[in-house]
Amino acid sequence: MEETRGEPSTPGGHPQNGKSNFTRYMIGGLCLVLFLALTAVGYVQVEERRGGGLRPFVSAENKRCIDCHVAKDVAIGGINDWKLSAHAPKGIGCVECHKAERGDADAYEHEGTLVSTLVTPKDCMRCHEKEAQEFAKSHHAKAAQFIGSLDNFLGNVVEGPEVGTTGCAGCHGSVVKVMEKGKLHPATWPNSGIGRVNPDGSKGTCSACHARHSFSVAQARQPESCGRCHMGPDHPQIEAYYESKHGVMFTANKEKMKLNHPKEKWLPGKDYLFPTCATCHMSATGSQEVTHDVGDRISWTLRPVISTRLENYETRRKAMTQVCSSCHSGEIVERFFTQLDSGVTLYNEKFGKPANGQDYPDALR
Ligand code: HEC
Ligand code: HEC
Ligand code: HEC
Ligand code: HEC
Ligand code: HEC
Ligand code: HEC
Ligand code: HEC
Ligand code: HEC
Repeated sequence: MEETRGEPSTPGGHPQNGKSNFTRYMIGGLCLVLFLALTAVGYVQVEERRGGGLRPFVSAENKRCIDCHVAKDVAIGGINDWKLSAHAPKGIGCVECHKAERGDADAYEHEGTLVSTLVTPKDCMRCHEKEAQEFAKSHHAKAAQFIGSLDNFLGNVVEGPEVGTTGCAGCHGSVVKVMEKGKLHPATWPNSGIGRVNPDGSKGTCSACHARHSFSVAQARQPESCGRCHMGPDHPQIEAYYESKHGVMFTANKEKMKLNHPKEKWLPGKDYLFPTCATCHMSATGSQEVTHDVGDRISWTLRPVISTRLENYETRRKAMTQVCSSCHSGEIVERFFTQLDSGVTLYNEKFGKPANGQDYPDALR
């Protein structure tokens, strides 16, 4: 039956023809599957090149907000930024964040929907409870509570309230005031200070580090996201970082940092080799989870005239030491902390205590 093999197949054909047709259909089918798979991969890659990964999912309710805003040219930058966010493909849109409840201090009727312009940690907490709880217990959330301090008196009273609004509050946070119909008082908002006091009673704002509307993890991991506030003569952390070996290496290798990886694939020493502020103070390691309390890994507070150890400082020091050890040997880390602690102690004894009116230590005379 050799000669019939090449013949075109017919449904009621020879049994042996049927078998080879089956093979042909199989190969054809497999080619089709492969073709479709490659097309899908190509499609996803094109989408990713546009920046966001997956396509935004827009519900009918959110379509109303977006269509009108686009037609009236209001906040289009924000809408386009949202489209690239991790929220957009999950259908977390305008309404999911801006919709308000009746009775909310900052709620107002807006084109048939009750909304609020502010989206506070309390709103994000509905979906991100762990992050919001950790942030709420941190010093960051309390950063606007220096109102009674001498610094605040110098700023607000001696220099004038504008210094408070455009200066201190930009980093520390304002006390947001709501006027008629949910309008926000211009002396108190826009503001994304870290300890902002919100009308709903919550403290701080998540968009201090996660700029809206992309809420990108990659952006929050950039040293500049912290350096926006941690800069200048009183707290030169960003300057110190960029002049350190860590900062030098980060700058030289920025494109290898994989800043957009999810937290479980952004482990120091393994997925990337040069630490940013987030690495040491917040991010996950092989044995620690991400923390939104930036105090969890520091053992001193250097802010008072005399630096003091925090409560449970050994546990906090252990957590930081473990971060360093993801990249370094234990020995170098231990020696480093010996240097740090003796530097702080020397400063306390030689300058802090005498400046505070305590006795100058004999040993240093
Ligand atoms: C029919 C048109 C229209 C629709 C629908 C609409 N908006 Fe607006 N929105 C506007 C305009 C115009 C402004 C500019 C400020 C103003 O006039 O209120 C605005 C402003 C805003 C502001 C900023 C207010 C401020 O104080 O800075 C927010 C937030 C907002 N809209 C959210 C939404 C959300 C969320 C939805 C969907 C539930 C929505 N909008 C639906 C037209 C619309
Ligand atoms: C994940 C939550 C989230 C989503 C989703 C979201 N927003 Fe916002 N939006 C915020 C936050 C946070 C702010 C800053 C408010 C504050 O300071 O508390 C804001 C501010 C705004 C403002 C006023 C400030 C500005 O830059 O003009 C407008 C207008 C606005 N959003 C519109 C929208 C629209 C339209 C959508 C839907 C495409 C949307 N938002 C989706 C969280 C969100
Ligand atoms: C209605 C639920 C919901 C609300 C409200 C919400 N989120 Fe999300 N958020 C999600 C989901 C779901 C994801 C996960 C997306 C994924 O894994 O792809 C996410 C992801 C994120 C991410 C990770 C983004 C990345 O690049 O991987 C950040 C940061 C974030 N949200 C911050 C916020 C902040 C800040 C607010 C408040 C202003 C907020 N979210 C409000 C549900 C929400
Ligand atoms: C560029 C951002 C920025 C500005 C502007 C700013 N601060 Fe600060 N402030 C910080 C940071 C960051 C810290 C924490 C420093 C640290 O821990 O090393 C801080 C710490 C403080 C502290 C110590 C808090 C404590 O818990 O002991 C006080 C008080 C203070 N600032 C008052 C002010 C006043 C008053 C103004 C306005 C005249 C002001 N700051 C302006 C960023 C800023
Ligand atoms: C001090 C800056 C800062 C503030 C304020 C902040 N975040 Fe983050 N957030 C980060 C950084 C940095 C990361 C990335 C951590 C890592 O390396 O995985 C992150 C990651 C996240 C993620 C992604 C976690 C995951 O599962 O991958 C979510 C969700 C998130 N933040 C929500 C919030 C919410 C909600 C708030 C407000 C309550 C908030 N963040 C306030 C800096 C901040
Ligand atoms: C919007 C301004 C702002 C941003 C952004 C910011 N901080 Fe802060 N940070 C502050 C202020 C203000 C304080 C002092 C709070 C106080 O004691 O009143 C502070 C305090 C701290 C402390 C001391 C905490 C403690 O418990 O004593 C650490 C550590 C810290 N920040 C790290 C970071 C890191 C890391 C980032 C970026 C991922 C960051 N901060 C982003 C303003 C900011
Ligand atoms: C290689 C790890 C590492 C990096 C990177 C790093 N830090 Fe730190 N940071 C530390 C250590 C260690 C301490 C002191 C810990 C202690 O008190 O035991 C500290 C202390 C601090 C403090 C406390 C100051 C005070 O007043 O008590 C702040 C604020 C801070 N860092 C902010 C930052 C910022 C902002 C960046 C990025 C510009 C950054 N750090 C980068 C490890 C790091
Ligand atoms: C993500 C990896 C990583 C982490 C986490 C990390 N480092 Fe580093 N560190 C480096 C790299 C890379 C260098 C540069 C090495 C060189 O000079 O060749 C460096 C340099 C140093 C140096 C300078 C060494 C020298 O000989 O000049 C010291 C000290 C140091 N790190 C201490 C620490 C401490 C303390 C911590 C934790 C608070 C820490 N590092 C966390 C990667 C890391």
